[in-house]
Amino acid sequence: MCGIFSTISLDTNVKNLVVEGLKKLEYRGYDSFGISLIQNNKIKNFKSTGEIPSDPSKIEFEASGSIAIGHTRWATHGGVNTANAHPHLSQNQQYAIVHNGIIENYTKLKQELIQEHNYQFHSETDTEVIVAYFQILKENLATKQALQTLCKKLQGRYSFIILDNNTQELILARQGSPLIIGVPKDETSIFIASDVPAFVKYTQNVIYLDDNQGAILKLADQKIQSHYFDLDTLTEIQKRIIKVEINPEETELGEHPHFMIKEIWEQKDSIRKALEQDLSTLKQFVEKFNEAEKIIFIGCGTAHKVAICTQYLFAKLTKKITLHEISSELKHQKNILYSKTIVVAISQSGETAETLEAIELAKKHGCFTTCITNVRESSLDRNCDLSLFIKAGTEKAVASTKATTGQMAIGSLLAFACADRLNEGKFLLSNTGALINDMLNPRYEDKISQLAKELRYAQNMYIIGKGANYPIALESAIKLQEVTYIHAEGFAGGELKHGPLALITKQTPVLVIASNDDCFQEIISNAIEIKSRGGYIIGISPVNNEAFDYWLKVPEAGLDSPIINLIPIQILAYHISVLKDNNPDKPRNLAKSVTVK
Ligand code: G6P
Repeated sequence: MCGIFSTISLDTNVKNLVVEGLKKLEYRGYDSFGISLIQNNKIKNFKSTGEIPSDPSKIEFEASGSIAIGHTRWATHGGVNTANAHPHLSQNQQYAIVHNGIIENYTKLKQELIQEHNYQFHSETDTEVIVAYFQILKENLATKQALQTLCKKLQGRYSFIILDNNTQELILARQGSPLIIGVPKDETSIFIASDVPAFVKYTQNVIYLDDNQGAILKLADQKIQSHYFDLDTLTEIQKRIIKVEINPEETELGEHPHFMIKEIWEQKDSIRKALEQDLSTLKQFVEKFNEAEKIIFIGCGTAHKVAICTQYLFAKLTKKITLHEISSELKHQKNILYSKTIVVAISQSGETAETLEAIELAKKHGCFTTCITNVRESSLDRNCDLSLFIKAGTEKAVASTKATTGQMAIGSLLAFACADRLNEGKFLLSNTGALINDMLNPRYEDKISQLAKELRYAQNMYIIGKGANYPIALESAIKLQEVTYIHAEGFAGGELKHGPLALITKQTPVLVIASNDDCFQEIISNAIEIKSRGGYIIGISPVNNEAFDYWLKVPEAGLDSPIINLIPIQILAYHISVLKDNNPDKPRNLAKSVTVK
């Protein structure tokens, strides 16, 4: 999704800094990029479609200055072309803007600007409307007042930075999308970005701009001056500087060819990290669960599959009424949201717009809101009443791996804690972590890469599971779709005869997830039904079976088997992707952090 990176520095050539920052944000997904920089009291603008070159000198933009804004765009309003790429300049060339989010009422505002001010637009974006309005407002108002009036006009979730050539200031506003300010101790530079990894190399001290807050940043007397304020009252706000726990090295590839495989291998340790939970927070979760009439687990994409898996585990271990829902669908079920309901939002980034909106809605209806996330101080963490962190470290590949298994681990911990069997749950998870550690070895990866060679030309792949492995079948399909572009679908084993069996032809590959549990015999029967119709059965199981044409052995992990079962499928998807010459880290059309609806 769109990424913002901006800086002011004593250094008079910040172009390379901006390119480096944008490069660090590219994992979020983008299709074009651009930079605006003030040079000799003029805004110089550069925009391009496609990839950001690793070498900044390859960008044909000869400009130097100490204040700049940059952007990676993931197209929403208007096609992928340089006209629609950010930054957008105002008509009088005095302001440039970068923006993340969506302005829902932009068509109406655009009409107003055209009719009343004869304003000429150069792009199809909603973003250009913001900078256009700002230019008009600044004709009669001071910056803060203009920003306040502007934000009152805008509907939607957004964050933006306006570069003001007259005052040589950066003007920031946030309503729903992240904007984080990196503040190095020496005060000779400042960074603003959509995500911390963009500048963590330079500072781990950050300020989170909150919703309905604005800021003005500038260079004065050889120091950066920053001024934060409430957009309703325009009163000054003292912001807290927080030290983030991100090791700059963890955001680098190191010796790995791609982030996806790096992150798959980091699962050697991530379950152990997820286990390290603060007992008093876990206790508070359990107390709230015990008081509640029902618990609803929500999430988008992969996180929703974790929600389903967690719900199965709760249903197995407790008598609580638990539901799961896709975040964007919760609003269609408002009637089931009331004070005795707990909503548990699952989200790696903590910034997914639909999940944030679902939590806002749940709050409005009096629900107690909680989250399981990877990002401390993310919007979700700050909006929920209680949070648990999976501590997986920065996840950069679009296809989630280590964050997913970390979320599942916390789900398992919560279910055991709620069943008053926390120690048993911890023991099981610790064992699962050790099993994953053993499992992830070059021989195992090599075996799966051989299977990838067999499957790389498949047109369709199906995955079946039962019980808590049913959501694993769904998640496996997502992994395969995201990085291999093979048509893949996951089903509950029992549903086969109700439609999907018609899709099986000779040699159709079907992954059968068969844990050694009470579903085993039934899922094997399903596998035999598929085999009888010519399907090629790949069994993912701790035990071999004659129904399998190919056996992908996984260790026995009891109720945590769904976590273990995902690992070989992640590796398989990765290797097929590489064999097909795809970029597993940046699947086409997808973004890591979906901050717009
Ligand atoms: C995007 C990502 C997925 C992720 C989903 C939810 O679609 O590509 O990997 O599962 O968003 O993201 P979240 O950050 O809320 O877990």
